[in-house]
Amino acid sequence: MTIRIDLAEERVWKDGVELHLRRKPFAILKYLARRPQQIVTQAEIVEAVWGDVSTSQSLLRTHMRDLRQVLGEELVETVVGRGYRFLLEASWDSVATPGLRVLVLAASFRSDSPNRKLAEVAARIAKQVGASVELVTLGEFDVPPHDGESEDGRGIPDGAEAFGKRLSASDALVVISPECNASMPGALKNLIDWTSRIRPQPFDGRHALLLSASGGAGGGHRGLWALRVPLEHLDVRVFPETFSLAEAARAFVDDNLADATLTARLEKTIRGFLALAEAAKEYPRLKRAAAGRATPSP
Ligand SMILES: Cc1cc2nc3c(=O)[nH]c(=O)nc-3n(C[C@H](O)[C@H](O)[C@H](O)COP(=O)(O)O)c2cc1C
Repeated sequence: MTIRIDLAEERVWKDGVELHLRRKPFAILKYLARRPQQIVTQAEIVEAVWGDVSTSQSLLRTHMRDLRQVLGEELVETVVGRGYRFLLEASWDSVATPGLRVLVLAASFRSDSPNRKLAEVAARIAKQVGASVELVTLGEFDVPPHDGESEDGRGIPDGAEAFGKRLSASDALVVISPECNASMPGALKNLIDWTSRIRPQPFDGRHALLLSASGGAGGGHRGLWALRVPLEHLDVRVFPETFSLAEAARAFVDDNLADATLTARLEKTIRGFLALAEAAKEYPRLKRAAAGRATPSP
């Protein structure tokens, strides 16, 4: 038997057949299915689903009954006096960690920038997938040109410190950058250089996705190759796929991409990236949990 869950669309399939669950039963399933074979207490579920520990447990039982009716009684075990246990390993179509923290940096100063518009679309998609997103622009991190004397004298400028803090507080970074002379904008490189001087180095181990928009036919794609170089040098895990929006002046209708095919491709890229960042974040915990469950050899 297989259970497949799409968190972004809030849909679930059992052996390929779609099941129809109401919101609360779906939220309970989501919580349980992320903890297969583990005993989960009623209080934990109530807190996760209602966010309020005073919610009555009889309400939980009502929604649990609905969940079992639709899903099949055999998949959720009641562990008397302790809680519930989901008995299958579900497969997930999208990001399952609402706590995945994503910093989206629009590397442009212009308010009417297509890169800022693309950053807004990307941030929206990441939120729909379940991540918690902070959208920032280059102008929020004002730094002078890097020079060694000023670093020795005044230290790291506030703009780089602020960016470094945002970076350290995130699991993943999405940069949306214009192309300048087939490379990245100097201001972006300068911010990266300053931020790289902070210890511990805040780019280290971060996952990054690179996007661009440009009025030209190349969509700013060459700039992303250049941007990849310092980021990889700083031990960022740069996602192999990128997305570059060509002829950007005509590419938006209101706040969305006009072209449905491009929208689907952007969504696929962002979902793939977030799934990888989530897997990397969750793996150490899952590995520890699996090691804890393993039967010691005689
Ligand atoms: C110095 C300079 C170099 C540029 N080089 C490129 C380039 O190589 N490729 C490109 O597509 N656009 C290039 N552009 C155009 C910028 O990408 C364009 O101005 C873009 O709108 C800036 O991004 P923004 O509007 O999102 O701030 C260049 C612009 C400037 C000022």
